[in-house]
Amino acid sequence: MMPAQPAPLITQEAIRTRIAELGLQIARDYTPTTPIVLIGVLRGALYFLADLSRHLPQPVEIDLIRVSSYDGTNSTGTVTLLQDIQIDIQGKEVIIVEDIVDTGRTLNALCQHFLKLSPKRIKTCALLDKPSRREVNVPVHYTGFRIPDHFVVGFGLDYNQTYRNLPYIGVLTDV
Ligand code: IMP
Ligand code: MG
Repeated sequence: MMPAQPAPLITQEAIRTRIAELGLQIARDYTPTTPIVLIGVLRGALYFLADLSRHLPQPVEIDLIRVSSYDGTNSTGTVTLLQDIQIDIQGKEVIIVEDIVDTGRTLNALCQHFLKLSPKRIKTCALLDKPSRREVNVPVHYTGFRIPDHFVVGFGLDYNQTYRNLPYIGVLTDV
């Protein structure tokens, strides 16, 4: 059965404000002429990537990668690469843009994967972080919100592919 409307945790307005702050922070950490490659992790990071990228004055290249690790609300523990990036990141400044860091397995696997492609540097950026769930120690350089251990949906995040278009972040209580 489809769960009821998710209980609001982070409002649309709070998300908008925080993404602008993150954008400012990232913009200041790089010189204005430094090209940055933003790599969004499909599909959850779509909305975050689109909004964040528009706050950066630097020349930005965007690519997308698709991995799978989740089944419903359970992490399967293994990260499978479903679709790789197309652009060459060798010698470039890369920022991985994720919706949420949970166990850290996905982000860690992505960092290892991109390191093999010899970028100048890799940083990581996540809209949400659930630090209490961490199993793998992976640096998150830019974090939107730290949240408790709830399964959340909205603003790109899904439960079995639904709720991504919810404009706020909400908690699914009955799954
Ligand atoms: P990790 O590998 O355990 O860190 O999981 C990261 C991925 O799991 C994220 O990119 C999300 O796609 C998914 N995920 C983790 N927690 C949630 C959640 O609360 N709601 C929706 N997706 C989640
Ligand atoms: Mg994801």
